[in-house]
Amino acid sequence: MVQGYSRLQIILHWVVGVLILYNLLMSDAMSELWRAKETGSTMAMSVGALLHILVGALVLILVLWRLGVRLTRGVPEVPESSALMELAGKVGHWGLYVLMIGLPATGLLAYFGGVTFLAEVHGGILKALMWVLIAGHVLAALYHQFVLKDGLLNRMREPK
Ligand code: HEM
Ligand code: HEM
Repeated sequence: MVQGYSRLQIILHWVVGVLILYNLLMSDAMSELWRAKETGSTMAMSVGALLHILVGALVLILVLWRLGVRLTRGVPEVPESSALMELAGKVGHWGLYVLMIGLPATGLLAYFGGVTFLAEVHGGILKALMWVLIAGHVLAALYHQFVLKDGLLNRMREPK
């Protein structure tokens, strides 16, 4: 079992996190383009919509890379705590991985693959779940930092 996250794993964690937040917050141009496509009106792709697609596709590539590193190199053991907390951590992290793949995949399939109902899944349930899991993830990190004071946050700052 490895002692900590590698430099690559840490960089990928923060870069992917920022890119996902960007797409969660900057989606209006993409929604506008999608509405135009659905109603059959012609609309040139705006810079905002193009960025949504490129950033999302980059997230998908980086997350697959990240999962590959996770499976080959491994990750540190979750810190000792109650069985319930350890389970919450595992379910939370895997849930984030599912959404980090599911969000860009449904977006791409809806826009380029013509599977139109996936646009609703993308901008509805998956978007909402992503916000919920990110909020839980950040709250958990703050709980470790200020209540348990177990230095967990350092694991995503200092490579080992
Ligand atoms: C302020 C924001 C964030 C903080 C403070 C934070 C903090 C952390 C910390 C400390 C860990 C290591 C947990 C451990 O050692 O067991 C971690 C892991 C993780 N974080 Fe974040 N994170 C943030 C944002 C995000 C975002 C936006 C995402 C994705 C949507 C994300 C996804 C993950 C995942 C999937 C893991 C598990 C990594 C693995 O073991 O493979 N994080 N985060
Ligand atoms: C990290 C990846 C992504 C995230 C977090 C994300 C997030 C979002 C959000 C928050 C919306 C607005 C939904 C709403 O409030 O109505 C949206 C809309 C949309 N996104 Fe993405 N997106 C991602 C990747 C992609 C990719 C790669 C595509 C490929 C074309 C895409 C296509 C769309 C489409 C077509 C819409 C309009 C759907 C609608 O408004 O119902 N997204 N996205």
